[in-house]
Amino acid sequence: MLRVIVRGAHNSSAARQALIEKIIRVDHAGELGADRIYAGQLAVLKGSSVGSVIKKMWDEEKEHLDTMEKLAAKHNVPHTVFSPVFSVAAYALGVGSALLGKEGAMACTIAVEELIGQHYNDQLKGDHLIL
Ligand SMILES: [Fe+2]
Repeated sequence: MLRVIVRGAHNSSAARQALIEKIIRVDHAGELGADRIYAGQLAVLKGSSVGSVIKKMWDEEKEHLDTMEKLAAKHNVPHTVFSPVFSVAAYALGVGSALLGKEGAMACTIAVEELIGQHYNDQLKGDHLIL
């Protein structure tokens, strides 16, 4: 079951809805970016020793993106207008980091996962919570 819980000083329903939309839109963009980065990395490193690892991580990101798609549909939240550009840029980042080799791809992955983890932790520590 997918649900969004908002707590804190968001007293009006309009403020709550605006916050829900903001959270879902930003988190969807993050998951879309992760999905596209791994797609780009796997396009380059598919036959390498890290191909199966990247594929596994990509599969996990597909689940995250699917969750955000469902939340966006449930709460009637449109994707950011920047999604097409963001998608291409993230794919290019994945390809570019993979062209640097396995180490480049993993460095990109670590940096992105740390950033996303920090973002979700900030959301949890803030005045709202998404589940
Ligand atoms: Fe994710």
